[in-house]
Amino acid sequence: MTTPKKLFIKTYGCQMNVYDSERMAEALGGKGYVPTDRPEEADMILLNTCHIREKAAEKVYSELGRFKGLKAERPDLKIGVAGCVAQAEGEEIMRRQPLVDLVVGPQSYHRLPELEERARTGEKALDTDFPEEDKFDVLKDRPKAQRGPTAFLTVQEGCDKFCAFCVVPYTRGAEVSRPVDRVLAEARDLVDRGVREITLLGQNVNAYHGVGPDGGDWSLARLIWALNDVDGLERIRFTTSHPNDMTDDLIEAHGQCEKLMPYLHLPVQSGSDRILKRMNRSHTAESYLRLVERIRAARPDILMSGDFIVGFPEETEEDFQATLDLIEEVKYGYAYSFKYSPRPGTPAAERAQVPADVADERLQRLQALITRQQREAQEAMVGREVGVLFERPGRKPGQMVGKSDHLHAVHVEAEGIRPGDLARVRIVASGANSLAGEIIG
Ligand code: 5AD
Ligand code: SF4
Repeated sequence: MTTPKKLFIKTYGCQMNVYDSERMAEALGGKGYVPTDRPEEADMILLNTCHIREKAAEKVYSELGRFKGLKAERPDLKIGVAGCVAQAEGEEIMRRQPLVDLVVGPQSYHRLPELEERARTGEKALDTDFPEEDKFDVLKDRPKAQRGPTAFLTVQEGCDKFCAFCVVPYTRGAEVSRPVDRVLAEARDLVDRGVREITLLGQNVNAYHGVGPDGGDWSLARLIWALNDVDGLERIRFTTSHPNDMTDDLIEAHGQCEKLMPYLHLPVQSGSDRILKRMNRSHTAESYLRLVERIRAARPDILMSGDFIVGFPEETEEDFQATLDLIEEVKYGYAYSFKYSPRPGTPAAERAQVPADVADERLQRLQALITRQQREAQEAMVGREVGVLFERPGRKPGQMVGKSDHLHAVHVEAEGIRPGDLARVRIVASGANSLAGEIIG
């Protein structure tokens, strides 16, 4: 028997990259590769990169440089760059870094087996096409292993919104939705392999409009209702959403669909209408606030999460204050905040930039406010009963850790709880980044 080849993948960036890395491992699984978490024993190293913020390419170059010794020891080692940096700068990476044997963009990784073969013959293999064929579909017959209780499932990719700061429409391409029957088949397969919670992914997941089994155009809400009927699946989440695509049926689903969890990541980016307009967001602070009101009317305990960019070109102190005001009004349970970073090729990169020290100082103020809100949201859970899906043992003996319906990390000390168990838990205390609970009954 030949010993299997080993594959080390390092994943940067968003959850969609995590999903893609799993698919890449499956694609190479068909060529006899098994995953390893040790680069020094790998026959192939893949960096699945992210291009969304600053220094993305530099990070890739410095990471690649670290493999120089490994490659000198084992010339058979193949090194590849995948993901959005590969898409944006693949050819240049190959020119500048001779260690790289293979470059594959986010739309063509189903062709990895063929690229791997070319790389094995000593060729420099590059594929950054946007192919016609469905990369997800091509991968469907790969060998499959038992899974943990939670999984991602990409249902939509790309974006047509062209926010002035964002590279996604260029690296991931135009908005594409997967057909409903493919998504449902993949969901059932995940459930058969032990998954109980699925997070539907898309750069603009709520713009989903897949072809239904009836030939009609299905919305995300309709897809969620169909998933609600999948036996053995207990929880459904989705991310990331755009405010303009929060349709009435999706808001209603948050109130009525039993398996849809009370957590919504709905980025607003800024609270200043002037900046929102310059960002090409096509919503206002007020329309966002009214939307959040409607969502909370449908599901009062929903936990809101968001993304914020500070120091967008021309942002004044007054604009920034409007963002803080919006945050005060919404009261987020969780948020991600970023200092604006100019991305080559995007419209905002050409504009007058806010000085770095000003942006840093604003980011600190915003993060202090968000941290306070996060703590308050956690403290408000104390005394309440929630569902918890347990995922793994905690740090202390006898401890199990899982996620609540509202996506808080919860730990309990209890006998007989196993990963994949879903239990009712009373929250008894709130810590820095997690809640403590007790199993009910
Ligand atoms: N600079 C800073 N943050 C950005 N994001 C996207 N592009 C940029 C950029 N150029 C943030 C947005 C988005 C999240 C995924 O990343 O907040 O919602
Ligand atoms: Fe980027 Fe805007 Fe599209 Fe989100 S909606 S992926 S921020 S362009």
